[in-house]
Amino acid sequence: MPVRALLHYALEVPDQSVGQKFYRDFGLVDATGRDNAVRLRPAPLGREAVLLYPGPKKRLHHLAFGAPGDEFEGVKESLRRAGVKETDPPRGAPEGGIWVRDPDGHAVNIRQEGCDLPPADPPLTLNSPGHVSRIAVRGCPEGLEARPRRLGHALLFTPDVDRQLDFYTRALGMRLSDRSRSVIAFLRCTTDHHNLAFLASKGPGFHHGSFEVGSMDEIAVGAQRMLEAGCEPGWGVGRHVIGSNFFYYTRDPWGSFAEYFHDLDYIPEHCAWEPRDFPEQDAIYRWGPPMPDFFGRNTEVE
Ligand SMILES: [Fe+2]
Repeated sequence: MPVRALLHYALEVPDQSVGQKFYRDFGLVDATGRDNAVRLRPAPLGREAVLLYPGPKKRLHHLAFGAPGDEFEGVKESLRRAGVKETDPPRGAPEGGIWVRDPDGHAVNIRQEGCDLPPADPPLTLNSPGHVSRIAVRGCPEGLEARPRRLGHALLFTPDVDRQLDFYTRALGMRLSDRSRSVIAFLRCTTDHHNLAFLASKGPGFHHGSFEVGSMDEIAVGAQRMLEAGCEPGWGVGRHVIGSNFFYYTRDPWGSFAEYFHDLDYIPEHCAWEPRDFPEQDAIYRWGPPMPDFFGRNTEVE
């Protein structure tokens, strides 16, 4: 039985207030309570998508997945069959659910919860050749701000992409959507093309968390705002090959990234989607500025 949602990711960071400001500038809403974690959520949702714990340096604290209702027992059974033992939660972690460790040692929390989806936006009104959906109305957006609707996915570095792929498919029931050799692999547990991805590196690490926004305009406006807020330039705007989404990656205070995405491939549960193994030279982006050197750097090991 598979997990059904990526609920949140949690990082350890040396200065929580710096991370809090970063994610607020990015467009998330502060939902910090009285425990030791800074909590941030997309504005339309009631649950947090990012937790920040105090720690000596930035690293992944844990990932949380959801399996609602009876499916929770199903995931426990699939973990048992895969020979994965339950572990203690990391110190200070949220209560509830069960905890395991993936082959890279990351703490993984599975909670008896479903996806929390934002309300639908009104349809975009774009004029394209032969298709006019905005008539006698000016289209240039006024007062637009980037407002992430929900967490889509996280990308982690790993020293062994295939080992992680085996764990998350066999033990947690995720499905491979696409990959490029043993360099990068994209897995899903919802209708999103990916909810978790792995990029080969010398060691484990956190690369980015990615949030859905409502348009290309919103990506570009968000990118601009993050530069004005003093963030180092990131990467984008561009269009990915695998997953097909428009992207902009803003650099976080620790050398990893937060991504705005729009127009990601959508894969219903029962459909004829065949994972493809893309050649490395045509896997990452179709257009956009050249990928900067720092984009692939795992600052946790280099
Ligand atoms: Fe991404």
